[in-house]
Amino acid sequence: VRLLDQRCLPATETYVEIDTAAAIAAAIESMIVRGAPAIGIAAAYGAALAARSAHALDPGGWRAAYDAELERLRATRPTAVNLGWALDRMARAAAPLGADPFPALIAEAERIRVEDLAANHAMGASGASLIAPGASLLTHCNAGALATAGYGTALGVVRAAWGAGRLVRVYATETRPWLQGARLTAWELLRDGIPVTLITDGAAAHLMRTRRIDWVIVGADRIAANGDTANKIGTYALALAARAQRARMMVVAPRSSIDRTISTGAGIPVEERAAAEVLEFGSRRVAAAGADAWNPVFDVTPAALIDALVTEAGIVSPPTPQGIAALF
Ligand code: MRU
Repeated sequence: VRLLDQRCLPATETYVEIDTAAAIAAAIESMIVRGAPAIGIAAAYGAALAARSAHALDPGGWRAAYDAELERLRATRPTAVNLGWALDRMARAAAPLGADPFPALIAEAERIRVEDLAANHAMGASGASLIAPGASLLTHCNAGALATAGYGTALGVVRAAWGAGRLVRVYATETRPWLQGARLTAWELLRDGIPVTLITDGAAAHLMRTRRIDWVIVGADRIAANGDTANKIGTYALALAARAQRARMMVVAPRSSIDRTISTGAGIPVEERAAAEVLEFGSRRVAAAGADAWNPVFDVTPAALIDALVTEAGIVSPPTPQGIAALF
């Protein structure tokens, strides 16, 4: 598996070659690969690698080691439900297999990747249909090609709307502390020739009050059955500001991001990462000595603040439990 190391962007395009499930797990934890769908896809390839090595070691009893590796992968990042969704698929695909499981499992991982790419193109076209000509958008974090199999969820809509000539301006938040907006969203939009204006995270409400923003467009890490949506920390604040300033809020996510086992956002686990990510900048301490930090990396936006949920199976506007159930 070749992963573009997202920690190095935009300074260098460095690829990491990986041939064990343990190394895939470490790559997910350390943010070499990030973004909910991309995490799920990487984990699916990790599962196939796990089956290959487990079968090589013990052709008759590979399944126990395979199951253990799936659990190791599952524990890497708790909020993105695409991870568990992809690993459940890899577990189901493995169930009937006996002799060499690798060909069937690598084929299943490939299917997960190819289906995600197709879903992104479908969501892009569908989400862009909601955007009127002359629109200005704000996006948060990176929900683009880097975060998926390609094209992107929120950035897929941006790409499609830009291609249709409907966009006047795209704003992106920096997205502290990993700067997914400044480093990744800006990098991939500019490679496609789409101009982007960065703002600090704290400037978003002021932007919506003083300049025209028609839509705030984001991805999702986990959507509850009622439409409550976990996404990068700061999304909830954007939704509150959007409602106050009459901008609309669009969540773009494949059905693999919807967790129908959780009825509301209260059931979504929110990942908390190391305080050092806040206290340091580029591994250099910037916070005052002795200061501590709390670093939740996702928040939950209530469905009531979301105007449209765009999936590959259709748009639910506004998201309701019935509308979401109908997608399945
Ligand atoms: O911590 P990250 O960078 O993995 O967080 C990513 C996000 O919050 C994205 O918005 C989300 O995964 C959707 S990506 C299509």
